[in-house]
Amino acid sequence: MTTATASDLAINGGTPVLESPVPFMAVGLTKKDIAAANEVLESGMLRAASKCAALEEQFAAKSDAKIGLTCSNGTTALQLAYGALLERGDEVIAPAWTYIATVSMLVAAGAKVVFCDCLQDSYQADPADIEKKITPNTKAIAVTHLYGIPVDIEAIQAIAQKHNLKVIYDCAQAHLAEYNNKGIGAFGDACTYSFYATKNLGTGEGGMVTVNDEELATKISALRSHGETDKYLHTSIGFNYRMNDITGAIGLSKLETLGAETDRRRAVANLYHSRIDNIQGVDRPVPTQGSNPAWHLYTCRVDLDALTCTRDEFCAALNKEGVPTAVHYPKPLTQQPAFSDLAIQESGVPVSVKLASTVFCIPIHQNLTDDQANGVCDAIAKVADAFAK
Ligand SMILES: Cc1ncc(COP(=O)(O)O)c(C=O)c1O
Repeated sequence: MTTATASDLAINGGTPVLESPVPFMAVGLTKKDIAAANEVLESGMLRAASKCAALEEQFAAKSDAKIGLTCSNGTTALQLAYGALLERGDEVIAPAWTYIATVSMLVAAGAKVVFCDCLQDSYQADPADIEKKITPNTKAIAVTHLYGIPVDIEAIQAIAQKHNLKVIYDCAQAHLAEYNNKGIGAFGDACTYSFYATKNLGTGEGGMVTVNDEELATKISALRSHGETDKYLHTSIGFNYRMNDITGAIGLSKLETLGAETDRRRAVANLYHSRIDNIQGVDRPVPTQGSNPAWHLYTCRVDLDALTCTRDEFCAALNKEGVPTAVHYPKPLTQQPAFSDLAIQESGVPVSVKLASTVFCIPIHQNLTDDQANGVCDAIAKVADAFAK
């Protein structure tokens, strides 16, 4: 590509790289998904029944987990896992760099949250920082496979074993991700998923907890449905966090193509890696060693030392070239007003603080063509060139 200057940018009246904007995501239902939902509607069996049961079995098997438990969404999946594994007052280490639910549901469960930082290149919780933040009161680690990139599971499991801690993995963005050639469901005490409309497997609302222990599954199952262990016998306090069979049927239908769709996301990510490695001023995500991400999001960083613009100016220019962007997330959780009463040392999570002003996500989904992905990279190269110091 020839050297671009500011006046070449579409935002300044130049010709955009892409004639029509590349879609940021691909969501919606196929005719097959709709037929699956219709079949349930026509049957009249609307509660959680055979479709939810089949989704539990098949999703758990594809994730290398023994047991799956469907639930109403990814937030209630976290509540079920935390509710079954933690006691009120437990100290739990969780990342400052994740979606709020991972941590807010710890607070809702009565846990004392201790924030850890993340690693700059993978964006995942930093095992060395987790270890530093362990105290005699630490009972668990709750971490996210953020953007679909598995955390360093080996390191985290080793820390957990050494200090006798529970581990809960928030897999809301990581359906079918793998680590050391195994599905992520093989690791930790519990894995939680979201099937929100925009997730890699999106049913509208929906969620799942996977576990590898029968006793824990029984506890979660009771929590999910008013502590009911026999008809109208409530042996503990629980909730109604159940899924329904319409959602279950949509999930089952979508699960059939999820593997191929995830492979396509991986192919796009590989194309992005090789192109972005040659662009000065922009850094690409570097997956944790041993991981095979699900690439829910492909998150880059601007190198503010190499560019004359801010991240937001960079994205505004990129958008005009035909590349939509998103910022996940504009603040580390330590800066969220909701957590203002937690004793937070912002200096304790410097990487997370820096990411908030440097990250931007570019389109990645199963329908993205190589031509579109190359167009995205051409546009990033053009904007980086025009803003080079
Ligand atoms: C990492 C993470 N955890 C939890 C959730 C919550 O899932 P839900 O929206 O299904 O409640 C999300 C959803 O955005 C998420 O991205």
